Amino acid sequence: MVNRGAFIVIEGLDRSGKTTQVATLHTRLEAERIPVKLLKFPDRTTAIGSMIDSYLRSQSELDDRAIHLLFSANRWELATTIEQLLAQGTTVVCDRYAFSGVAFSTAKGLPLDWCRSPEVSLPGPDITLFLDIAPEKARERGGYGEERYEKEELQRKVRSIFSEIAAEFDQKAWVTIDAGRAREAVAEDIWNSVSPLVTGLTYPMQRLWG
Ligand code: TYD
Repeated sequence: MVNRGAFIVIEGLDRSGKTTQVATLHTRLEAERIPVKLLKFPDRTTAIGSMIDSYLRSQSELDDRAIHLLFSANRWELATTIEQLLAQGTTVVCDRYAFSGVAFSTAKGLPLDWCRSPEVSLPGPDITLFLDIAPEKARERGGYGEERYEKEELQRKVRSIFSEIAAEFDQKAWVTIDAGRAREAVAEDIWNSVSPLVTGLTYPMQRLWG
């Protein structure tokens, strides 16, 4: 039997450099010849993803609960793929996951427990790396973008909900990384956290909030 791949989730606040860090990690894993697949949520390429995309670009309106469930369904439509990749020994690196789902919808005012329930039993990450940046620092980096949630007040709330979520995980499963530093320092911290996992795991995949 092959050892299974590791499921690595990278979460982060806007302007935390998440996209660059995900790409850097992916390149490094490939260079080390670790079989790896990069996923991103929302996955805007599916039918559900295109509804999410239209909502995020403010081209359509949806009830807060309806959009929450679409984000979650967008993960469920890839759940089996994730499971299969891990089972065949491929490491999965995922740019945002259920934690973003809970943090953003809770920040908009929905109850945290309600937000969490559709995410229960999704494939569970082996490690979540949270790229943390203070909103003031994000502002220095050129401020937020154009999309619906890219507003400082909401980002503050999202940040505090992420830290609430983090408190439930042990320090090995959830690593908060100060993303206000130089890109290379952040990349090194990420690598040090994931490298022990990517040579293959012998224990079974976990389920989220099971
Ligand atoms: P994303 O496409 O990852 O944008 P970025 O490149 O800024 O990270 O995410 C788009 C937005 O969707 C982002 O503001 C976070 C939000 N989001 C949710 O509200 N719920 C979710 O489940 C996910 C995955 C993202």
